[in-house]
Amino acid sequence: MSNVTVIGTQWGDEGKGKIVDWLASRADIVVRFQGGHNAGHTLVVGDQVYKLSLLPSGLVRGKIGVIGNGVVVDPKALMTEIDRVTAQGLVVTPETLWIAENAPLILPVHGALDRAREAARGEHKIGTTGRGIGPAYEDKVARRAIRICDLAEPETLDWKLDELLLHHNTLLAGLGAETFTKDQLKDFLTEITPRLLPFSCQVWDRLDEARRAGRRILFEGAQAVMLDVDHGTYPYVTSSNTVAAVAASGSGVSPSSVGFVLGIAKAYTTRVGEGPFPTELHDQTGRTLGERGHEFGTVTGRPRRCGWFDAVLIRRAVRVGGVSGIALTKLDVLDGLDEISICVGYELDGQKIETFPSAPGAQARVKPVYETMPGWKETTAGARSWAELPAQAIKYVRRIEELIEAPVTLLSTSPERDDTILMRDPFED
Ligand code: GDP
Ligand code: IMO
Ligand code: MG
Repeated sequence: MSNVTVIGTQWGDEGKGKIVDWLASRADIVVRFQGGHNAGHTLVVGDQVYKLSLLPSGLVRGKIGVIGNGVVVDPKALMTEIDRVTAQGLVVTPETLWIAENAPLILPVHGALDRAREAARGEHKIGTTGRGIGPAYEDKVARRAIRICDLAEPETLDWKLDELLLHHNTLLAGLGAETFTKDQLKDFLTEITPRLLPFSCQVWDRLDEARRAGRRILFEGAQAVMLDVDHGTYPYVTSSNTVAAVAASGSGVSPSSVGFVLGIAKAYTTRVGEGPFPTELHDQTGRTLGERGHEFGTVTGRPRRCGWFDAVLIRRAVRVGGVSGIALTKLDVLDGLDEISICVGYELDGQKIETFPSAPGAQARVKPVYETMPGWKETTAGARSWAELPAQAIKYVRRIEELIEAPVTLLSTSPERDDTILMRDPFED
């Protein structure tokens, strides 16, 4: 019996939320360990649709949800989300939601700076979610973040706010954006403190106790390996590490607690925001994938860019992320296509290359080399067993396994929770 860590292997939106919700029935605790409310995880359970950004997806199953120290927490966004899911019938109390007291806060200055910088970048903009994620992580590393535990110490808050404002107002003024007063931030913090503090605790201690008691922990990654600040398509990435290794440091547990690493991959590829995307399709097939897959960002509503499955990128995500098995999602979106292509290599400036380059210019010039397979006419939508899949769909899955050098251990065939095929239980590994 082991823990399981779920991570995205492409550019996000692979269906992590659906898979985490499905696996949560086998877990006791679900932990978010990085990212913030830039994430958007959609869960469909019967006629209920849950859209979660900060809350761990396990809460929908009535499991304990944890927001680890590696997450950047926007307290207003968190409270709005708690109110929304409470109205949908979920129970969120300090008993069911534990938030690390050493997690840094996202304040209104962060969103303002994120948006002002994006506007100033012009054609080189990253296409961020504008939610202050980058500036909040910068403040953490620069040792000027306000952390949740600071809310209990007014004297600490006072001098930290001075330092924070000196930095941010200088930048905001330089960018021609509106600056903030200390009173504005104090009012913001005073309003959220009574609601936020009761959830805060020493998460590392409770997780260690849970481990000793033999509880199963499911770590829920946000974003994905290609958006990882080190391993992704830098600078068109998010501001956190998204690989499974961070599940340990982002929640305060031992590296050995990470357990089985389940990489989530869509049966094709999508991306929101700017940056290189070798297999992007600008033709009718790309539009068809977008329409059938309902490919619109959960957070910003932007249409997602769509393209073929890139096996070279996923093989890299498997190796860098230490992926033990893959959950392949949205296979149903490929139903009825005459032909399906898989990227099996690249060409850069007329030369064949085996791995994705690191420099942005080269990443943008890379051309995919495709292998094409016949599609299938039958429907896979809603399939719940391997036996229900058409032979050609099985061939597609088997070919992907060979190319990415990892087994497909779960398959998803619709947004609905139970339209899932289990080949190997990651908790039993
Ligand atoms: P996440 O960010 O990785 O959790 O993914 P999102 O929730 O942002 O995006 C995935 C979208 O695809 C959501 O709308 C899901 O309801 C939907 N989805 C997940 N799995 C499947 C699947 O197997 N088939 C189809 N058609 N939709 C799926
Ligand atoms: P989930 O967890 C898809 C993208 C943004 C932008 C870049 C940087 O739902 O898979 P940021 O606001 O993080 O500074 O934006 O990262 N991005 C995501 N794309 N899914 C996500 O999360 C994302 N979170 C951030 O679109 O390109
Ligand atoms: Mg998403």
